[in-house]
Amino acid sequence: MMYENAVTYVHRILRDVVRPGSVVVDATMGNGWDTALMAVLAGEGGTVYGFDIQPVALEVTKTRISGAAADVNLILAGHEEMSTHIPPEHHGKVQAVTFNLGYLPGGHKDITTQAETTRRAIEQARAILAPGGVITIVCYRHAEGERELEVVRGLLASLPQHTLTCTETTFLNQAGNPPVVFVVVARS
Ligand SMILES: C[S@@+](CC[C@H](N)C(=O)[O-])C[C@H]1O[C@@H](n2cnc3c(N)ncnc32)[C@H](O)[C@@H]1O
Repeated sequence: MMYENAVTYVHRILRDVVRPGSVVVDATMGNGWDTALMAVLAGEGGTVYGFDIQPVALEVTKTRISGAAADVNLILAGHEEMSTHIPPEHHGKVQAVTFNLGYLPGGHKDITTQAETTRRAIEQARAILAPGGVITIVCYRHAEGERELEVVRGLLASLPQHTLTCTETTFLNQAGNPPVVFVVVARS
C-alpha cells in the first residue's frame, strides 16, 4: 500500500474508518479539503463538525462542501472548545477526529495552532471518541510546530495502552522537513 505523504496517509485512514452515517470532526478546517472528504465519507445521515479560528477558513470550506449530503457544521471556535460545541448525544460516538496543525496555507503564518491548546483539544477528542474511533494528527516542523510536536508526542506516549494505541509515522527520505503523522486508535 502506498502512502505518498502525510495527507494521503491520513486520507487513507479516514477512508478506512469513516462510514455512511458516521459522526466526525475536522479540528482544523483551513482550506476545507479534509472537511470535504469527511463530508463525502459520512454521507447521508452523517454529521461533520469543523473547527477553525479564522472566518476565511469557514468561507472557503463552505464552498468546498456545498451539496454534501452529510450534516456539516462549520464552527468558528478553537478546537480546544470542541466538547462544548459538539452536543452531548454525540459524545462517545465520534468515529474520527483529524488535526492538520500549523497555519493556513496562503494565510498568515503567525496565526497557527499552539502547543497548549492543541494538547487540550487532543484530550477532548479522546474523550468524545467512539470505540474503534481514530484521531489523526499531522504536525509540521516550523518553530512553534517543533514545540507542538514534542507536546503531542509526550501526551500520546503517556496515554494508557489498554484503551488506546498510539503510533508515529515519519517520511524519512522526503525532502524539506516533512511533517510527522500521529495516529490514536481507541480499542473497541
Ligand atoms: C494546516 S491548516 C489546516 C488545513 C486543512 N485541514 C485543509 O484541509 O486545508 C491549519 C488551520 O488550523 C487553524 N487553527 C489555528 N489554531 C486553531 C485552533 N485553536 N482551533 C482550530 N483551528 C485552528 C488555522 O487557522 C488553519 O486554518
